[in-house]
Amino acid sequence: MSLVSEIDFGTPRSKAEKTVTLTIDGASVTVPEGNSIMRAAMELGTQIPKLCATDMLDAFGSCRLCLVEIEGRAGTPASCTTPVAPGMVVRTQTDRLKRLRKGVMELYISDHPLDCLTCSANGDCELQDMAGAVGLRDVRYGYNSEKHPNPGKDESNPYFTYDPSKCIVCSRCVRACEEVQGTFALTIAGRGFGSVVSPGMEESFLTSECVSCGACVQACPTATLNEKAVIDIGTPEHSVVTTCAYCGVGCSFRAEMRGDELVRMVPYKDGKANRGHSCVKGRFAWGYANHRERILKPMIRSKIAEPWREVSWDEAISYAASELKRIQAKYGKASIGGITSSRCTDEETFLVQKLIRGGFGTNNVDTCARVCHSPTGYGLSQTFGTSAGTQDFDSVEDTDVVILIGANPTDAHPVFASRLKKRLRQGAKIIVIDPRAIDLVRSTHIEAAHHLALLPGTNVAMLTALAHVVVTEGLVNETFVRERCDWDEFQHWAEFVAEERHSPEAVAKITGVPAETTRQAARLYATGGNGAIYYGLGVTEHSQGSTTVMAIANLAMATGNIGRRGVGVNPLRGQNNVQGSCDMGSFPHELSGYRHISGDATREMFEALWGVKLEKEPGLRIPNMLDAAVDGTFMGIYIQGEDILQSDPDTKHVAAGLAAMECVIVQDLFLNETANYAHVFLPGSTFLEKNGTFINAERRIQLVRKVMAPKNGYEDWEITMMLAKAMGFPMHYDHPSQIMDEIAQLTPTFAGVSFKKIEEMGSIQWPCNDKAPAGTPIMHIGGFVRGKGKFIITEYVATDERTGPRFPLLLTTGRILSQYNVGAQTRRTENVAWHKEDRLEIHPHDAEQRGVRDGDWVKLASRAGETTLRALITERVAPGVVYTTFHHPNTQANVITTDFSDWATNCPEYKVTAVQITPSNGPTEWQRQYDEQARQSRRIAVVAAE
Ligand code: SF4
Ligand code: SF4
Ligand code: SF4
Ligand code: FES
Repeated sequence: MSLVSEIDFGTPRSKAEKTVTLTIDGASVTVPEGNSIMRAAMELGTQIPKLCATDMLDAFGSCRLCLVEIEGRAGTPASCTTPVAPGMVVRTQTDRLKRLRKGVMELYISDHPLDCLTCSANGDCELQDMAGAVGLRDVRYGYNSEKHPNPGKDESNPYFTYDPSKCIVCSRCVRACEEVQGTFALTIAGRGFGSVVSPGMEESFLTSECVSCGACVQACPTATLNEKAVIDIGTPEHSVVTTCAYCGVGCSFRAEMRGDELVRMVPYKDGKANRGHSCVKGRFAWGYANHRERILKPMIRSKIAEPWREVSWDEAISYAASELKRIQAKYGKASIGGITSSRCTDEETFLVQKLIRGGFGTNNVDTCARVCHSPTGYGLSQTFGTSAGTQDFDSVEDTDVVILIGANPTDAHPVFASRLKKRLRQGAKIIVIDPRAIDLVRSTHIEAAHHLALLPGTNVAMLTALAHVVVTEGLVNETFVRERCDWDEFQHWAEFVAEERHSPEAVAKITGVPAETTRQAARLYATGGNGAIYYGLGVTEHSQGSTTVMAIANLAMATGNIGRRGVGVNPLRGQNNVQGSCDMGSFPHELSGYRHISGDATREMFEALWGVKLEKEPGLRIPNMLDAAVDGTFMGIYIQGEDILQSDPDTKHVAAGLAAMECVIVQDLFLNETANYAHVFLPGSTFLEKNGTFINAERRIQLVRKVMAPKNGYEDWEITMMLAKAMGFPMHYDHPSQIMDEIAQLTPTFAGVSFKKIEEMGSIQWPCNDKAPAGTPIMHIGGFVRGKGKFIITEYVATDERTGPRFPLLLTTGRILSQYNVGAQTRRTENVAWHKEDRLEIHPHDAEQRGVRDGDWVKLASRAGETTLRALITERVAPGVVYTTFHHPNTQANVITTDFSDWATNCPEYKVTAVQITPSNGPTEWQRQYDEQARQSRRIAVVAAE
C-alpha cells in the first residue's frame, strides 16, 4: 500500500448510528448525526478552508477560516464547530465567504515570515495551501511580521525543532498533547500578538514534561514544529504503510520516503491499534537501522576465543549446517535446537520452528516469550480455553472501571496508555495494583481511585482477597456464572476464597495493603459497571505467574466481566510479536494454534504437508537446553533475533550453557551479548527491509511492508530457508504470503487469513475462519472457547526468594519509555538523550539508612550476584522495595536475578529478588571488563562495516 498522505476530514467522525441528510452546495449527503458540516463536506469531496481544525482533534473554532452560510440562519458560522442537522442547506463558496476568508488569511500572512522557498515545510504547509485555496493575491497590511514573538528556535529535542517565528497560534499542538497524548506539556503563554507556545514554565522541550510522542509535530500545520529529518533531507514524496517493530501495541505507520531514504514515520490514522497516535520509539527511534555498528556480512569462527572471519553467505550457511550435522552425528538428534524471536515476523518464526521440527528432527524449539508471557498462555487456556487477550483496544472506550496490575503502560505501552488516560479523563475509574506509584496512580488530570501498593511477589494473595470480598459481600454475577461457567467448580472456588485466611484483613499481613483499601477496590470493580483487567509482566514474571493469570480470570468470570465490549482480561504484550511467536508454534510442546505436539491428528497433518516424520514428545525449553549444554548433551543452537545472555535470568548460567556448546548460530542486527559465545553470525534484516506480519496484544494480524531493500542482502525468512536447504530440508517460498497460506492451511484459528484479505481489511484479529470470516475483535461472546469457563483454585505460595538480614530489600524491575527491552536498538538512537544508564530507585528512608545520596554509585547484591549502578532517590517506591530498568548491558540486572521460575511454564521470576544496597566507588571489575569487551566488539563491527 503506497500513499503520499492521508485525507484530513477536519473533525473526528461521529460514532452515532443515526444518520442525517443535508445539502451542501446543491449536493445531498448523508452522514452520522453529530458530524460537523466541515466533515460532511469532505465526505462529498469539498474541502472547506481550515487552519485550526484537524480530524485527530475536537473542533476548536479559533481561526475563522472555515465559515459557511446556512439557509435560514444569520451570520457565517464556523463549519468545524457546527454540527449537521436534517434538511440543512449549506453553501461553502459565496462572494461574502470568499471575502471574509481572504481577510482572515491576510491577517495570518501579514504576521508570518515569508521565507517559503527555503522553509523546510515548503510544499507541506497548510498555511501555504490555504493562502492558495482562498485566492490570496495581496496583503494590505504588509509582510513584516515584526510584532510576532521570536524568542529563537528550540532545538533541544533530538528529533524535532520548535521555531516560534512560524507559529500561527492555532493551538493544534497544545490540544494534541492534551487530547491525544494526555501529557499536557504545552500551553499558550502571553496574549494577542505576544502569544507563544510554551513547553512548561519557560523550559525547553527536552527538559519539560514532553515525552516526545510527536503528536504536536503531526498536528502542526506549519513548519513551527518540524522533524529534524525533514529539515535535513527534504519533504517526503511517497509512503508505505507498515507496523511498528517495538512493543505489543502494534502501531501502524506511514514510512514516508524520498527515493529509498526513510524521512519520517508518521502514525497512520487508519491503524486500528493506534488510531493515528504513536510514541517516541516507533515515531522517531528507527535510526538503528542505519547504525554503523550494524553487521551486514556473515562471519564464522571455530572457537569463540578466535577473531571473527568475514565469509560469503554460502560459506557461512554451509559451515553452520555442517556443524549442526556433525554435532547430531556425535551426540544424537536431540543435541541441537533453536530459539525463535518475538521481534521477527510470524512467517519467520513459523519457518524457524518448521526447520527445527522438520529439518533438525527435534522439538527443541522455544521462544523469548518463555521469559515474559508464557504464563498468560497457560493461565488463559486453562480458564477460558485460548491463549490470548479477550478484547480489542477500542473496547477501553466502553470501560467504566479498570484494574491495572503489574503493568506500567505509560512507559511500556504508551499509545494504549494514551487511550486509557482519555477514558479516565472522561470519568472511568482505575485501580492500580503495583508496588510502585506509577504515572497512572497520579499525573496531570489522572488520579487512581485506589493504589494497592503490594509487596512484590504477593499478587495471588491480593487477587484472592479481592475475590473474597466479591464472594462474601454477595457481589458475584450469579446469572453470568450459572450460564457461562462450570457451576460446581465455581462453588468449590467460592468456598475456597471465602475462607477467613483470604480476607483482606488476613491478607494485609502478606501484601502490606490496608484491608479497607482492598475492600473498596473489590466493590468498585464488581459494581462500577464494565470492568476490565489489564496486566503485564508484573503478573507473569513470578514463581506464581500462571496462578496469578488464573486468579485474574477467576475474578473476571465471577463478576461477569467477560464477553462484551468494555470488559475482559487483557495481557499487555511486551514485544511487537510475542502473540505471534506463541501462535506460530514456538513452544516445544505445541504446534501453531496451541495444539499439543502429542496429538496424532494434528501432527499427521503437518507431517503430510512437510513430508517428514515429527517427534511426538515435547522438546526442551530454553532453561533445559542450557542445563543440557552444561551437562554435555545439548551442543548446537540456532538463535534468531534474541539476546538470551542479556534477557534471560541468571546470566552466569546462560553464559556457562552457551560456552559449553560447540556451535552457536546467532542471527541478529548487531553483535549482541549472546554473539560473544557464537561461532556463526548471520546478519539479520530490520522490519523496514522485510515483508510479513506481526500480531499485537489484541490478536490483530497486521502487515509489515518492505520499505527498502535489506542492507544485509536477505530477509530473515530467506536466511532460514537457506539454512533449511543446507540441512537437507528444502523449503520453497517466493514471498511470505505463501508462508501465511501454509499457516492458514495448518491452523484452524488462522484458516481464513491471507495477505490479500489483510490488505483488503487493513488488519484481522484471529480467530479468522469460516465461523468468523472477518475475524474476532472480542472473544468469548456467548460462550467460552473451552465451553464452560473454568474456575481454578489459586492457593498463594510465597516465593522461595525471601528477604533476611543479609538481603533485606526486594528488587523489582521494569521498563522506561525511551528505551526498549535490552536496548539493542534504542541505545543506538538519539533516545539515549532521555535515559543514558539504568538507575536504582530507592526510597529516601532506605537510602538514608545506608548513607546513600541521589546519584551515588551503589552496589546491588543478591544471592546470585552483584552489579553497580547509580541511585535515584524517590518515593515512587515504597520503603523496603527497590526498582531498576534493564536496558543497558553494562548494568546486567539479570546478573542478580535468581533462577526461580513459574511452576507451570518456567517463566523466570524477574520481579522479586532479595537484595542489599551498599555504597560503592563505581563499576565492578566485571563491568569494567565488559565495557572493554563491548568497545572491542564495536570496533569489529565498525571495521567490518567500513
Ligand atoms: S511531543 Fe507529545 S508529549 Fe511532547 S509536547 Fe508534543 S504532544 Fe506533548
Ligand atoms: S506550534 Fe504549530 S500547531 Fe502549535 S500553535 Fe503554533 S502553528 Fe499551531
Ligand atoms: S506504542 Fe509500541 S507499537 Fe506504538 S509506536 Fe510505541 S513502541 Fe511502537
Ligand atoms: S478550521 Fe474552523 S475555525 Fe479554524
